[in-house]
Amino acid sequence: MSSTEPRFLADYRPADFTINTVNLSIELADTSTKVINELELVKQGDHQQALVLNGEHLTLISLVLNDQPLHAELYQLNDTLLTIPASSLPEGDSFTLIITTEINPLENTALEGLFKSGDAFCTQCEAEGFRRISYYLDRPDVMATFTTKVTADKTLYPFLLSNGNKIDSGDLPGNQHFVTWYDPFPKPCYLFALVAGNFDLLEDKFTTMSGREVALEIFVDKGNLAKAEHAMVSLQKSMAWDEQTFGLEYDLDIYMIVAVDFFNMGAMENKGLNVFNSKFVLADSQCATDSDYFNIEAVIAHEYFHNWTGNRVTCRDWFQLSLKEGLTVFRDQQFSGDMHSSAVTRIQNVRVLRSLQFAEDAGPMAHPIRPEKVLEMNNFYTLTVYEKGAEVIRMLHTLIGVENFRKGMDFYFARFDGMAVTCDDFINAMSDASGKDLTQFKLWYSQYGTPVIKVAQAFDAATGIYTLTLSQQSPVTKKQENPQALHIPIKIELINKDFDTNASVNTSNLNQTKLLELTQDTQTWSFSGFSQQPTLAMLADFSAPVKLDFSQDETALLTVMKNAENSFCRWDAGQKLLMSYIQHLTFDADYVISPALIDAINSMLMGGEDRAFIAEQISLPSFDEAAGLMIDIEPLALFDAISTLSLFIAQGAQQQLLATYQACQQVGEEDCVANRALKNVCLSYLSRLPEYQYLVAEQYQQAANNNDITQENMTDTLAALTCSAKVNLPDLSEQLQHFENKWHDTTLVMDKWFAIGASIVSDDIFTQLNDLLKHPQFTLKNPNRARSIISAFAMNNPKYFHCKTGKGYQFLAQQIAKMNEINPQVASRLVTPLIQYKSFATAHQQLMKAELITLHALPNLSNDLKEKLDAALI
Ligand code: ARG
Ligand code: ZN
Repeated sequence: MSSTEPRFLADYRPADFTINTVNLSIELADTSTKVINELELVKQGDHQQALVLNGEHLTLISLVLNDQPLHAELYQLNDTLLTIPASSLPEGDSFTLIITTEINPLENTALEGLFKSGDAFCTQCEAEGFRRISYYLDRPDVMATFTTKVTADKTLYPFLLSNGNKIDSGDLPGNQHFVTWYDPFPKPCYLFALVAGNFDLLEDKFTTMSGREVALEIFVDKGNLAKAEHAMVSLQKSMAWDEQTFGLEYDLDIYMIVAVDFFNMGAMENKGLNVFNSKFVLADSQCATDSDYFNIEAVIAHEYFHNWTGNRVTCRDWFQLSLKEGLTVFRDQQFSGDMHSSAVTRIQNVRVLRSLQFAEDAGPMAHPIRPEKVLEMNNFYTLTVYEKGAEVIRMLHTLIGVENFRKGMDFYFARFDGMAVTCDDFINAMSDASGKDLTQFKLWYSQYGTPVIKVAQAFDAATGIYTLTLSQQSPVTKKQENPQALHIPIKIELINKDFDTNASVNTSNLNQTKLLELTQDTQTWSFSGFSQQPTLAMLADFSAPVKLDFSQDETALLTVMKNAENSFCRWDAGQKLLMSYIQHLTFDADYVISPALIDAINSMLMGGEDRAFIAEQISLPSFDEAAGLMIDIEPLALFDAISTLSLFIAQGAQQQLLATYQACQQVGEEDCVANRALKNVCLSYLSRLPEYQYLVAEQYQQAANNNDITQENMTDTLAALTCSAKVNLPDLSEQLQHFENKWHDTTLVMDKWFAIGASIVSDDIFTQLNDLLKHPQFTLKNPNRARSIISAFAMNNPKYFHCKTGKGYQFLAQQIAKMNEINPQVASRLVTPLIQYKSFATAHQQLMKAELITLHALPNLSNDLKEKLDAALI
């Protein structure tokens, strides 16, 4: 177990020793892998400190210091540390230490360090997994060059991979063989990787902008070669994009990606050897959805971009995680926007932020994007560090402009290549490049919580002057008693037209677009030259991760929806209108929805926007997005409100929904993704009306059970199944049966099947969940599979997760308790919906809290869960 004391950013100090070179020899065996770790250490400065190495779940075999065995009385060993006191260390400043340990990969269900994924060996070292492989200075500011020799059975493990370039290989007695790798780039141990297995290999290449040829290799389970092609193309696109956008070229001669089924997270950017959750590699049109394709491309890009933002320049300490993650998420979002519709990509990113990150920032684990106190580092791979971190980088990009941003990136690499640095170092590079004072901007790194911006407007008809007053407020709590005003870029548009007339209300037809820099608690801006009050479109492009306290009436919202030039504003105004109905209906189930809504929906459906955009426009805010804007949430009332609104739209706009559904079906290959997106939103509305439910069955047949297999499509299949599950249509069980028969051998597709099963809106759900848990293919040991039931239920089935009896909360807590023993990291992620209990009405709070108390009393409670439960239960 790791230490149970939290660590503080303020306590950072440089290491007393560094490591220049690491020579690893790893002899793989399921239950007793031998690791010989030869280190060249250098004492930093003149001191008498002990050498303290991290190590967990290791069996120490021997220590050799400068060629002399180090006997047990000369060092101390406990569960987490190996301490060699100064008195046992040699005289000079540099010395060698050879550490031999044994580990048990087969028993490693936490999937940290070296573990088995199916028949293959693989590693996950970020954040602090290397200490489960050998004793080491496991901190990111200790950077060394690694040579790694891997030895294993030749038949079972024909491929032996590690970071860098292959420098040696050969056969050994007893059907063993070895490969030696050398990585010339000094790196922290969290970027170390090793993989051994029997794979199919997809090979291609990329010629860099300076004309070097790089071998690209993607390793997948046998039989999956064709499913790696999309990942390969995505990799090539990412490499080209980073050259074009940032002038960043790949540095080694080989880039390898391995797809494994057992993985805690999405993927890992180990130098030259990325390890991926197979879910973010494997795809073909029969088994992957359009969003799978999109996500694969994004994650491949994300890990590739880390080669510069993360690997060449890394983090000084783990509190700086957003230095690499916020920046790399920003880069992958920009890439996705360039590859697809930038408007739709932005909307989807904002949806994630508002539904999940805002909740995190309002919950008990809220932290600044650069946390100050950490018990278990794995708990800080959060939406805040990643997604809000990316928003902070985006604000910087907005404030200094694209050219200065590029210049700042160039400065950053020129100054810090090969170093481990801080978020401040990054901001300083941006400030120096742009000449902009970013002192106040840095507060985004130290303050937490979603700021609320209050909007007030005035118009003086006599002078034609429009006045806008903005005030900001960050949460005031015990953790943050006196938040300062942040530097917030607010992009606005002042619209000169009414929604129902094309006549301009001003001499100029052009809307005025402005970038306002809100730096004080309250600030006022005036704009002149208006003959009538313009309509305000706030937060163009969602220029800052804030909430608005701004009520706009229906007329104003309709004007923005129709006349804003900024696509984000057009979309957001529609969402606000929908949200206002959801809010009303939550408090009053009999609230009468204005028929104007149907006109608005119809005109969106018939409007000139692209179809992917229309799909986003007519999609209702999700349960979580809506919840994020409410307090004392009555979850069942909220669920009913969303259902009522959905039914109202289905009834009112049925003709146009049907016409659009049919029109989208008739298009060929071009824009098929956008067409499917819109078609399937229409279907989800239509499936609420008995007279159109036949469409769901038809679509399922077409997409999943077609005589012409090339016509089959997973996006449409899953959309139909989702409708069947949400409305609990009579065909559902037959469809699920068919699906299972068809896909029982395809792990990733079966994950989708389990997830649909867990999201059925039916009073039988708890029986069904128990059946799913007993399914022969269910195992808590595979994180994707575990999440396919547990998270799918807790996140996608709000009606039963929040049911009055508390059974939903209990179900989740029981699974977390089991997972705590198997995989603490995954267990800790699953607890998120429960720790946010304070946003719900009292009766629900009590039920959720009771489960948290039960969990807190578990024997063997991991640090991961403990940190969250402690925070939630104060
Ligand atoms: N650096 C990886 C990525 O964002 C994530 C690794 C997270 N691993 C963990 N154990 N928390 O690409
Ligand atoms: Zn990352």
